[in-house]
Amino acid sequence: MKLTMRLGPRSYDIILRRGALGRVGQLVNLDRSVLVVTDTGVPQQYLATVLAQCAHGVPVVLEQGEGTKSFATIEYLCATMLEHGFSRADAVLALGGGVVGDAAGFAAACYMRGIDFINCPTTSLAQVDSSIGGKTAVNLAGTKNIVGAFYQPRLVVADPDTLSTLPPRHVSNGLAEAVKAGLIGDAALFELFEKGDIEQNMEEILYRSLMVKKTIVEQDEHEHGCRAALNFGHTIGHAIEASRGLARHQLFHGECVALGTLPMLESRALRTRVRAVYKALGLPVRIRYDGDEIYSHLVHDKKAASGTITLVKVKQAGSYRLEKTPLHELRAMIGEGIG
Ligand SMILES: NC(=O)c1ccc[n+]([C@@H]2O[C@H](COP(=O)([O-])OP(=O)(O)OC[C@H]3O[C@@H](n4cnc5c(N)ncnc54)[C@H](O)[C@@H]3O)[C@@H](O)[C@H]2O)c1
Ligand SMILES: [Zn+2]
Repeated sequence: MKLTMRLGPRSYDIILRRGALGRVGQLVNLDRSVLVVTDTGVPQQYLATVLAQCAHGVPVVLEQGEGTKSFATIEYLCATMLEHGFSRADAVLALGGGVVGDAAGFAAACYMRGIDFINCPTTSLAQVDSSIGGKTAVNLAGTKNIVGAFYQPRLVVADPDTLSTLPPRHVSNGLAEAVKAGLIGDAALFELFEKGDIEQNMEEILYRSLMVKKTIVEQDEHEHGCRAALNFGHTIGHAIEASRGLARHQLFHGECVALGTLPMLESRALRTRVRAVYKALGLPVRIRYDGDEIYSHLVHDKKAASGTITLVKVKQAGSYRLEKTPLHELRAMIGEGIG
């Protein structure tokens, strides 16, 4: 399947096909210097598959984990390109999950003020969400994604076969973003989760999730309006993710987002359905926290502006509304836990 992100001169194709990783070289010019960025958790066979197609591939294997999204990594990637004489005609290729994609994409945006970026996502999270849309970033001083750039890839190649090696908890983690996409923009996608048999429907889930995100990003590339809908569940989700008090739970991004969506559902019936889907996927549906700490993260979140915060609310699967909420009301809403 092929989708095209239509953003004028920054348009690009998104190829979603089994076995596509073995054919990247037929889809984009790899006959140049290519920095192939991956991490220690991504099976080596994928790196070998990509390098075999590159005329001058320079592999970089970063440490797996969120800590890799740092300035130190950007410096290292840019220094490696400089050392190998990369010019503006060369390229960066990300091979991994959202961590690799966000860091490699930011390095591509910065090196010589921007060189081609090719994204080959290998986690469900990256295949349904982070690989498209052009958000690249690193974390700084404990604040996630606070420094980054909008920088669209030239091509995205998502090969669902790569998910066969992904641990089940990571598969579900990424599918939380797919459930999110269904809730804000595609009722039939949400219903696919209710029917079960995720494995059987994986390609349709990936495709439909990408369609929801693509449609929103095409309308509002730089998040001045409706792109905020993609933050559904992320306001409280990010606060949970950043909470020191909850660090012992070691929750993944999608798990935090799943929790964060629950208080944003405006119908009791829908909340029951969503909780059932999360339970079936092995995602968390309840958590206790220090409400004051969560609130302090919310206030410092970059999306909190001038005493109000824009929340994304869903009453019926497939549609959303944005609501400007005063911060003090939010404190009451988050309480001391979810579920
Ligand atoms: N740019 C965006 O629009 C956007 C959107 C959502 C999330 N994100 C970011 O994405 C990141 C999370 O991404 P993630 O969930 O993909 O995490 P991740 O990149 O850390 O990958 C999860 C783990 O899976 C391993 N892995 C990757 N592919 C594998 C495979 N095929 N088989 C086995 N193991 C594999 C990785 O090494 C890692 O240990 C966060 O930093 C988040 O902020 C960005
Ligand atoms: Zn997310």
